Amino acid sequence: MSDTAKLQVPGKDVEYPVLSGSVGPDVIDIRKLYGQTGMFTYDPGFTSTASCESGLTYIDGDQGVLLHRGYPIGQLAEQSSFMEVSYLLLNGELPNQEELTKFENTITRHTMLHEQLATFYRGFRRDAHPMAVMCGVAGALSAFYHDSTDITDPKQRMIASHRLIAKMPTIAAMAYKYSVGQPFLYPDNSLSYTGNFLRMTFGVPAEEYEVNPVVEKALDRIFILHADHEQNASTSTVRLAGSSGANPFACIAAGIACLWGPAHGGANEAALNMLREIGRPERIPEYIARAKDKNDPFRLMGFGHRVYKNYDPRATVMQKTVREVFEALKVNDPVFEVALQLEEMALSDPYFIEKKLFPNVDFYSGVILSAIGFPTTMFTALFALARTVGWVAQWNEMISDPEQKIGRPRQLYTGPVQRDYVPVGKR
Ligand code: SDX
Repeated sequence: MSDTAKLQVPGKDVEYPVLSGSVGPDVIDIRKLYGQTGMFTYDPGFTSTASCESGLTYIDGDQGVLLHRGYPIGQLAEQSSFMEVSYLLLNGELPNQEELTKFENTITRHTMLHEQLATFYRGFRRDAHPMAVMCGVAGALSAFYHDSTDITDPKQRMIASHRLIAKMPTIAAMAYKYSVGQPFLYPDNSLSYTGNFLRMTFGVPAEEYEVNPVVEKALDRIFILHADHEQNASTSTVRLAGSSGANPFACIAAGIACLWGPAHGGANEAALNMLREIGRPERIPEYIARAKDKNDPFRLMGFGHRVYKNYDPRATVMQKTVREVFEALKVNDPVFEVALQLEEMALSDPYFIEKKLFPNVDFYSGVILSAIGFPTTMFTALFALARTVGWVAQWNEMISDPEQKIGRPRQLYTGPVQRDYVPVGKR
């Protein structure tokens, strides 16, 4: 393939370099386009735009492939742990046992929150959505950890990254405890990252909490499946916020806000609510018809993806995990059967086949989280907990990129051209 791309614009022929990555689509480097032609590209939603160079996560949407630093998500989900995948995303290589133990100890010792942060929770209504709490408290971290907000200092960037990964489970568990009127539990350093989160969420001071190993493994795998996903909306939000030099805590708060939307991370909550509303298999055709109806804004939540035009490999692992958790906890919630039959009927429907709409990571996750005992309002908070490692890894990569500069897109202006002010008495 030619290593340049030629473009004819009115009165001018221009040529731009074609850059190749290690795998995936080549890119046309159009950084000089505006300077040479006085024209912008136009790509709302960035469907054909590469915003950066990255070595963290590769997705092949047609093949349904997801690699983290080259390792397939299926292998990581089956054989690795969320802490190990976090180390991999942050450092680029799988850790040996000594490196992993050191990393886990570092994260463990950052799980406590500054005691005054607990007072922030009391400012919220008990029925506040946990994502509102996560946004507020994550942003407030910058008011407490001033010794890790200098983004030019790699040491401070790593401490801030460790603090964010370590404290998100504590923040999320406290949001849940506050919503049910139970006391906060402090972290327990003798437990795993995920076991500690389960105890802070479901434990009570009145008795010992026994971590169920099947639930611990399933939730740890769910965290792995949500860790990072290339330049999705919330990661792009974190990168854009970080490009201005904002501190990492503020950037992660921005990412949490973006993830909350039902088209993105909020889809896991919306998907389970949809499955519960459908209630039983006989009602599935009615909802499939609504999803296909152009005049009905209803969409099958947990279906479709900007990049995956094949089965989301994370949904495959998620479906398998449902079976494991249901068996271990002796759950017989009909919602799983509704999900399985909905998937089967949708995937044999020409509308979904033509538009290449498959279940995504959010379709089954809520079924598992509900079986474990989380309320639907906590689902996106768990997504944010897990995605924090991806956000901080992408943020670190951006800050260290010598080519990075403040993100500042342009526009196609279609508003009024210049006109003179008319005093109110003459309008
Ligand atoms: C996540 O980017 C990431 O990587 C995100 C994520 C991550 O890990 O960070 O993977 C996590 O956000 C997963 C997606 C969760 N969202 C949902 O499940 C919500 C339901 N899905 C959609 O709203 C939609 O599929 C999106 C938002 C996910 C993707 O939308 P696109 O790429 O902008 O595609 P589109 O909206 O233009 O849809 C293309 C066509 C449209 O029909 P036409 O206008 O061409 O006739 O497909 C239709 C849509 O109407 N369509 C659906 C549908 N999704 C798309 N029709 C019915 N049900 C759906 N779910």
